[in-house]
Amino acid sequence: MIPKKQTAALFTGFLSASILAAASWSSPAGAAEEVSFKLDVFPILASRCVSCHGPGGTGYKESGLDLTSYEGLMKGTKHGPIVVPGDPLTSNLDVLIEGRAQVQMPHDQRPLLKCQQNIIRNWVKQGAKNN
Ligand code: HEC
Repeated sequence: MIPKKQTAALFTGFLSASILAAASWSSPAGAAEEVSFKLDVFPILASRCVSCHGPGGTGYKESGLDLTSYEGLMKGTKHGPIVVPGDPLTSNLDVLIEGRAQVQMPHDQRPLLKCQQNIIRNWVKQGAKNN
């Protein structure tokens, strides 16, 4: 027979393990995940935007938007910034890639995948950091 004290200890251990498990189940998936500019956002720009938005590209020539660096992205076009840190709803970058304007980016090409749009949206929402 297990002594009473030990049973109580076992029970407490079981309880706290269950509470921990419940706590991790109840947090919405990915809510606290921080998006990285270097690891997550830049590779999308590099593969889908830089061919036109780099030196010599049509997008760079016509709009002045250089997407080869964080500084270029934050500087925006010749008309001004396209990223409002913390606010993907009004950031032109998000408006254009999500198809919320007549003009869409990338120009004349397949839109970004939904998951790529979400990465950029969350990065803007989290403050558009150079992280
Ligand atoms: C095939 C070439 C091409 C690709 C690829 C491309 N762009 Fe463009 N982009 C252009 C051209 C040309 C312009 C200037 C004319 C215009 O505004 O439509 C432009 C303009 C823009 C503007 C300014 C729009 C405005 O109204 O001021 C933004 C912002 C932009 N692009 C973002 C992007 C992003 C982000 C990507 C990648 C997801 C991308 N572009 C991919 C060609 C391209």
